[in-house]
Amino acid sequence: MTPSPGSRRPGAARAPARPATEAARALNEVLEAVPFACAAFDRATGALVAGNSRFEADLGTLPGHAQRDALLATLYGELSGDARGQEIRAPGSGRWYALHWRELDCGDRALSLLTAVDISERIEALDSHRSQQEKLLFTSRMMSVGEMAATLAHELNQPLAAIVNYLNGSLRLVSQAGGPVQVERALMAARTQAEHASAVIARVREFVRAREPRRDAQDLPLIVDTVLELLRLEAERMQLRVELALAGGLPAVYADRVMVEQVLLNLVKNAIEAMREVPAAQRGLRIEARVNLDGDVEVRVCDRGPGLSQAESEQLFSPFYTTKSDGLGIGLAICRSIIEYHEGRLFFEARDGGGSVFGFTLPTPDRRM
Ligand SMILES: Nc1ncnc2c1ncn2[C@@H]1O[C@H](COP(=O)(O)OP(=O)(O)OP(=O)(O)O)[C@@H](O)[C@H]1O
Ligand SMILES: [Mg+2]
Repeated sequence: MTPSPGSRRPGAARAPARPATEAARALNEVLEAVPFACAAFDRATGALVAGNSRFEADLGTLPGHAQRDALLATLYGELSGDARGQEIRAPGSGRWYALHWRELDCGDRALSLLTAVDISERIEALDSHRSQQEKLLFTSRMMSVGEMAATLAHELNQPLAAIVNYLNGSLRLVSQAGGPVQVERALMAARTQAEHASAVIARVREFVRAREPRRDAQDLPLIVDTVLELLRLEAERMQLRVELALAGGLPAVYADRVMVEQVLLNLVKNAIEAMREVPAAQRGLRIEARVNLDGDVEVRVCDRGPGLSQAESEQLFSPFYTTKSDGLGIGLAICRSIIEYHEGRLFFEARDGGGSVFGFTLPTPDRRM
């Protein structure tokens, strides 16, 4: 039952008793017939004159609901009048309402009529639609990277196997001939690189086929070592100082080892490439790892390159964005797919004192299993 305006606010009705009561009763009946929460406020004083039972149930328990301005303040919170949207979330119930205001003259009373339509279902549907869209975008990014990877893997597999075979043959010849130890070492280094490339490709093929990488507890310092070993020659050639700052007692990460190696390899390669034009004395690469506040392992690759402008940093992760004559622009896009797959985060920030920091997070096994 909706209380009559008279019982709600004795003395508020200044108009002649009978017409006001009749007008109020008629107003109540009209409001009750509206299928939404609906209330009428005195336009001048802002006091509540009548509200239907939906209004009582939905908004009638809110503090200040009997006063238009107090109710607005409760509904809109701190927002200024200009910033007021039509759609609000009611405190307490958390339900969403679309608000409509109409000026209405009822008898000799000037009223402001509020209807509040419950749109929670539409908002929820929109939200779930949005998250489905995000999932879809993520999947399609994974798929296009997957397709590209499948083509590359297919094309590179044969020549790589041949390279490893030739290297093995050459190693055998050199050792039979007791040949120069430098040549032997160079051949072995080449074989390590080719074997790594084969492992990546095998993993990519498996990944594309199964779409289910193999994740288990992995030792991050070991991954860092593997990647630095692969880039050792390049770092030496550039007279690069490499500084390692891996926190002691770092927990294992829950990850696919080869995929994380790929991410780190891409980031370190980018860092090295960013310092090509920097005087040798200033080149410095630093790899940090620690547990962050969320309990995830955070890895940061810091360089002393030119850094990135705002505009550049906005495009960073788009596929095929590159500023290098020899770049494909897919390194970071692949990193992002891989890290998102691992439920981690890939990020960029400017480095204190110049340069960039590219980093990612990975969960630990206890948080994932
Ligand atoms: N450490 C960095 N410092 C400055 N710019 C960077 C850094 N890392 C990436 N970038 C910028 O982001 C672009 C995209 O990087 P990304 O790794 O995706 O592609 P790429 O290195 O150009 O080519 P590739 O596909 O061979 O990796 C680079 O071309 C470069 O402009
Ligand atoms: Mg790159």
